[in-house]
Amino acid sequence: MNGTRVLSVASEIFPLIKTGGLADVAGALPGALAAENISVRTLVPGYPAITHALDHASAVYDFPDLFGGRARLLAAQARGLDLFVLDAPHLYDRPGNPYLDPNGKDWADNAFRYAALAKVAAELARGLLDVYRPAILHLHDWQAGLAPVYLHFAEGPRPRTVMTIHNLAYQGQFSADLLPKLGLPAQAYGVDGIEYYGTISYLKGGLQFADRITTVSPTYADEICTPEFGMGLDGLLRRRLSSLCGILNGIDEAEWNPASDPHLAGHYGRNNPDGRVLNRFELQQRLGLDLDPDAMLLGVVSRLTWQKGLDMLQAALPPLMGQGFQLALLGAGDQQLESGFSELVRRHPGRIAAVIGYDEGLAHLIQAGCDALVVPSRFEPCGLTQLYALRYGAVPVVARVGGLADTVIDANEMALANGSATGLQFAPVTTERLSGALRRARILHRDKSAWKTLQSNGMATDVSWRRPARRYASLYRDATAQR
Ligand code: ADP
Ligand code: GLC
Repeated sequence: MNGTRVLSVASEIFPLIKTGGLADVAGALPGALAAENISVRTLVPGYPAITHALDHASAVYDFPDLFGGRARLLAAQARGLDLFVLDAPHLYDRPGNPYLDPNGKDWADNAFRYAALAKVAAELARGLLDVYRPAILHLHDWQAGLAPVYLHFAEGPRPRTVMTIHNLAYQGQFSADLLPKLGLPAQAYGVDGIEYYGTISYLKGGLQFADRITTVSPTYADEICTPEFGMGLDGLLRRRLSSLCGILNGIDEAEWNPASDPHLAGHYGRNNPDGRVLNRFELQQRLGLDLDPDAMLLGVVSRLTWQKGLDMLQAALPPLMGQGFQLALLGAGDQQLESGFSELVRRHPGRIAAVIGYDEGLAHLIQAGCDALVVPSRFEPCGLTQLYALRYGAVPVVARVGGLADTVIDANEMALANGSATGLQFAPVTTERLSGALRRARILHRDKSAWKTLQSNGMATDVSWRRPARRYASLYRDATAQR
């Protein structure tokens, strides 16, 4: 290994374990940074999905008692990723979703499960292993948020720390009574520490004590400094404004390549986009939709939560059904949203299909087969599905918030005239404006050449990790140069 060493800390990583975009980022960024001469190793929890996938694992450290049980640190590789795996069966040897128990509730000991991850990250950063000294500790989301807190209250030299916010809505909030059990001093609990409205917030701790803060788009970086999007942390973020920046996510272009994607029925690229038609047909057939060549097939691939605004799609669609729309939705999450979509399927057979569950292959096929991908999020730190859509020639119809605002160029009069449009945006984020955008999309879709231009512009957009990786590289350089 050579180049600058970065220890990244993430609670999920593609292709080993994934619940959302964080896994995609944690999995793809190391490869992109290698091109910048930065070598990343990622510390991850030893869930079964990870421990069962390891090649060449060796135990490099033993913790006789890590939050109530014995744990080992493994140095390992899996699917091309360099990892440290925290093998702590009492905390992580549980199948399924990393954060939720089989009843869909947060694991009762999540405070300790992720304090352990952060504690070990902090120890590694302080030189736990003679042979491994990172120059940067890069922490992702609340699950890693306590690491800068542990470092702040520890003695001795430490590397620079970067805290990345993928979603401010998840903060890792726990009872203040836990403080002594976390091994933190009483003074950690204060408004300028990890105290958050009478509780402990792991993310707040990270934001308080990390040297640099990033989030995953420039617009979201601005938004989170306002009370409307700041989730109670906007004051802190405004105070730390000079250390905060937004760096857009990229996508893994090998994993998401319509010219070679193994999940597709037909391969295609920007020069032969007609190959999409096979995927459209396959998608309609597989989901039991009418094989209607004239329909406008909308796609959705999403967690079903309030954030994603899909209740607005449920309200907007029925009055539009006379206009030839179809919907192929893949998602899982809130019970009420799931049953709302199941009800729409019953009422509009052949026109609306909803697969409730998680299916990586189908997610790819939807991107390759739908005409337009709908992302009506109320807030969206970056969003990856609209980036996949751009690459796959599915025209994104998105709310003008966060990373969606930064990555899609609306087909307004000017953008249509100068040929720069890549999709449609709507604001404010209401059912009415979403309906308006869908109607506008329908009109454009009937104009075959206008639609082709949108698709082709989208497919020409640079959504790779190259630019973001250069920005992270320069951020790391700045942070290490800073005294
Ligand atoms: P978030 O991280 O907020 O969920 P992103 O758009 O950043 O949103 O990333 C979502 C990732 O998860 C994408 O890779 C998307 O394809 C994937 N995804 C979401 N829901 C599903 C699902 N039900 N099945 C398969 N993949 C999904
Ligand atoms: C979060 C956000 C999403 C972002 C992803 C990866 O889950 O909700 O917008 O794309 O993290 O950064």
